[in-house]
Amino acid sequence: MDKFIIHGGRKLKGKVKVSGAKNAALPIMVASLLVDGKVTLRNVPDLRDIASIGEILRVLGMRVERTGATTVELENVDEKRVEAPYELVSTLRASVCTLGPLLAKRGRARVSMPGGCVIGVRPIDLHLKGLRALGARIEIKHGYIEARARRLKGTEIYLGGPYGSSVLGTANVMMAASLAEGETVIENAACEPEIQDLAHFLNRCGARIEGIGRPILVIRGVRKLHGADYRVIPDRIEAGTFLIAGAITRSRITVTNVRARHLAAFLDKMRSCGVEFARKGNSIEVIPPRRPNAVDLITLPYPGYPTDLQAQITAYLACAKGISLITEKIYPDRFMHVAELGRMGANIRKEGSSAIVRGVERLSGAPVMASDLRASAALVLAGLVAQGTTEVGRVYHIDRGYEKIEEKLNALGAKIERVWEKYPVRDAPQ
Ligand code: EPU
Repeated sequence: MDKFIIHGGRKLKGKVKVSGAKNAALPIMVASLLVDGKVTLRNVPDLRDIASIGEILRVLGMRVERTGATTVELENVDEKRVEAPYELVSTLRASVCTLGPLLAKRGRARVSMPGGCVIGVRPIDLHLKGLRALGARIEIKHGYIEARARRLKGTEIYLGGPYGSSVLGTANVMMAASLAEGETVIENAACEPEIQDLAHFLNRCGARIEGIGRPILVIRGVRKLHGADYRVIPDRIEAGTFLIAGAITRSRITVTNVRARHLAAFLDKMRSCGVEFARKGNSIEVIPPRRPNAVDLITLPYPGYPTDLQAQITAYLACAKGISLITEKIYPDRFMHVAELGRMGANIRKEGSSAIVRGVERLSGAPVMASDLRASAALVLAGLVAQGTTEVGRVYHIDRGYEKIEEKLNALGAKIERVWEKYPVRDAPQ
């Protein structure tokens, strides 16, 4: 198992390029199940999660091939396969999105229930509600979702849950509705850029989706989708993580291949911290203050502040002037990084679904443990600025969603070593 050894306190400089968006590429790859013909996807990041979804799609009878550094080709070759097994689904929750396309295209699906994960319970009731509304017969049996349908039928579906819209729930239902008979209206649809990207991809393949980026989506079902060549959007979460890397190390770095419009809430919050940004085309230069102001923030569905950048800004605010209040409105328990940041000298108290962050002068390096993807990124950011050496164990979490993060940060002047350790620093608490 790999760990990172981070030598803190170094200034960064130069440019770093953001890769393609993991959370757009994943559902778009799955959407290829709906397509007759070849799909060529560009700007697909080389990540563990992308490899995992490729594996699942192969089991479902697709040819999935990386034909270039960032290009992936997909094609259906055996449409009789309809089962996504537990061993694979348990490695990647996004695989539950195969349900809608399998039902719509192959009339049947047997997909393992994904189960909980470290950031929360993560139910899929909205996915099932939407697919049932389209006419699917769904049963949960022996840990599997068993679903059948002749041709799905368009209808009106309200897809809001206790925490608002659902990203992958919207993806699942929108994909299924693309091949349904008649018109589907999804109300309280997710507006995230990754869902917009999925809708644009489907339209490129011949789907008829309107209202993209708005909470009411109208999908007019078509009989068939055809192959397409499509470029995935840049990863806004990776971009935000690098912008914080510049701010936290007080370094003027430039992040390229960014769509600033996808990061409005994040940039606004960072400006409240005192960070300035110089935008030029699709690049953003960070102009950091000596020490950030404390800010309050609440994570919300897009266009609100993203939960996937909550842990990283918490690491930044750990050294702010004053007290910040950070409230999670998407995953109330997504605070695994709090205790680990505490090991580095941060003063953070969790209070229900909030964290009270009392800024300290400095952090000090310590052995810490990555628990999930974004929490791991927060620990790497803290390690960049902490005095001394930080060891981040179990970095396979970070490899799920950040392409060569240590290489990219080292190219900016950081000093991060990836080393193999036979036994992790310590076991994750049970
Ligand atoms: N929810 C329900 N019922 C459902 C589905 C969701 O109650 O059927 C709840 C969830 O428990 C949560 C909220 O609704 O409280 C929003 O969850 P959502 O469905 O939007 O999350 P997701 O689609 O499972 C995606 C991303 C996550 C990201 C969230 C929120 C992918 C592959 N995953 O998950 O990304 O945090 O949206 O933006 O797109 C990550 O990349 O690190 C990651 C966890």
